[in-house]
Amino acid sequence: MDKYEKVIALARRRGFIWPAFELYGGAAGFYDYGPLGAPLKRKIEDLWREFFVIKEGFCEIECPTIGVEDIYVASGHLSGFSDPLTECKECGEIYRADHLIKHIIEVPDALSGEEIYTVIQENDIFCPECSGDLSQIYEFNLMFKTAIGPGSRQAGYLRPETAQGMFINFPRLLRYYRDRLPFGAVQIGKSYRNEISPRQGVIRLREFSQAEAEIFINPRDKSHPRFDEVEDLKLILYSEEDQEREGGQPREMTIKEAVDKRIIAHQTLAYYVARTYQFLMEAGLSRDRLRFRQHKKDEMAHYAADCWDAEASLERFGWIELVGVADRTDYDLRSHMAQSQTNLSVFVPFDKPRRQEKLVVKPDMKKLGPIFRNKAKAVAEALKSLDIEELEKETISVVVDGETVEIGSDLVSFEMVEETIRGEEIVPHVIEPSFGIDRILYTVLEHSCYEEMVDEETRTVLKLRPKVVPIQVAVLPLMDRDELMAPAEEITDVLKARGIYVEYDSSGSIGRRYRRNDEVGTPYSITVDYKTLEDKTVTIRDRDTMAQVRAGVDELPDTILALLREELEFGEAGVPLRS
Ligand code: ATP
Ligand code: GLY
Repeated sequence: MDKYEKVIALARRRGFIWPAFELYGGAAGFYDYGPLGAPLKRKIEDLWREFFVIKEGFCEIECPTIGVEDIYVASGHLSGFSDPLTECKECGEIYRADHLIKHIIEVPDALSGEEIYTVIQENDIFCPECSGDLSQIYEFNLMFKTAIGPGSRQAGYLRPETAQGMFINFPRLLRYYRDRLPFGAVQIGKSYRNEISPRQGVIRLREFSQAEAEIFINPRDKSHPRFDEVEDLKLILYSEEDQEREGGQPREMTIKEAVDKRIIAHQTLAYYVARTYQFLMEAGLSRDRLRFRQHKKDEMAHYAADCWDAEASLERFGWIELVGVADRTDYDLRSHMAQSQTNLSVFVPFDKPRRQEKLVVKPDMKKLGPIFRNKAKAVAEALKSLDIEELEKETISVVVDGETVEIGSDLVSFEMVEETIRGEEIVPHVIEPSFGIDRILYTVLEHSCYEEMVDEETRTVLKLRPKVVPIQVAVLPLMDRDELMAPAEEITDVLKARGIYVEYDSSGSIGRRYRRNDEVGTPYSITVDYKTLEDKTVTIRDRDTMAQVRAGVDELPDTILALLREELEFGEAGVPLRS
């Protein structure tokens, strides 16, 4: 059994994750979160909110998961969000063609269908199932298509990313932020991709959860006002250059060094890479199994100018992307501007007003009207867009409705005037940290799952961080006797009333109950024994050390709350002390 199998077996057995629709045979790429998985997921999302909604001050919105076609025409998903497929001519099995050549071409995303097919042929690659010949490559769009309303008149698509919700709401969000940059908006919710052959559990789902922040900034200023808070953090970075260079390896460096050496393009991108690191540490990832890898130019999404992925090392799958932090430039806003014919620019005032010369063109409407009649207005507009050289000619030419029109210089006057400019219209750039919650959740499970030998038995323990753990405290009467169960139930009620997630468990031997709680990550187990009846004390058992201390029942809620509040301590350069 490899680690993945062990973690998935535990996750099923203990009610974290299991395949969806099992009653009807299941379907690849869909998973349910069970009684412990759902709260674990919610707590990871709440931790994310703590970072991006509370600390960064970004507003959270919630948009429909079905979108109209225009959105995805503009975003490029309709034309470009596809994977190259090949089919076995013998058994009919379908494969991601780029995956079949990954051992030959490290980044196959850059190759065309024809080029991939050539690599397949030149390297004698056949069907992995039956060794049959593979077909030519064809593209498969990953969006789920549906029809809005009866009659299929309007196409709808299940969103492939939550991000578009923020882009198409840009005018309202801008108003909400009183027309000032920078600002950010976030969304946590389901996204859908009809992945080709999802065989990696919750790593590759057809319905998954994303937490995305879209941060709208002035492209002229990509510095970040709180950069100093993160500049000394040390991260493992794997730059494009190091990937390309023979023998190049990921390197540990501070965020400041990465920006100073232009390894990360600018402060704002680096700031969110750093916050992503801190979030993943708080969620419970292991630092030495995390790195940030820069996308190579030819693997970058169509909208991105620079992108850094937070990648985690998983025993079965190797390095897997959990988060992408991208500079999406003005790609999305400009595309939606063109598609919707709506101005999505922002007026940004200058620090000081500027004086500037301006050409003012005054078409003589009294003369133009009788000559050009219903075209006069269009002619006047065309004249206004000419530059001074054109206007100085004796006969001026303008094109109106595809027709060239000649105008005498007496029909228009112009002058240069000085004017005060207070600012400029700009289309914001977008920095996007995009988190895949399901992949993070699985990684949290794998990175916190330990096996230890205790009394010649294997103890499996999930060392989940108190912030994300589904059950915070277990209350266990030593035996299922009424005189112990009654005070244990009372303690359970008191703890619940203080907002603590408690599980009361009286079934089985105390040893088995400790093991069960270790397996689901419960950080503290409270045992009610006969001494409790004498002196109103209980034992608190620490999941990680298995040490037990006695504590007073009356102070128990405060004692437990203090233990749960224990913050992750960071040492020098942001390295967690308990990683
Ligand atoms: P991959 O290359 O692994 O398919 P991607 O580059 O398509 O991932 P993005 O489009 O950048 O991923 O999506 C942002 C985040 O959403 C990813 O970092 C990942 O955590 C998550 N994600 C994307 N696709 C899936 C999926 N099919 N199942 C689960 N999570 C996903
Ligand atoms: N929003 C980034 C992605 O999902 O591709």
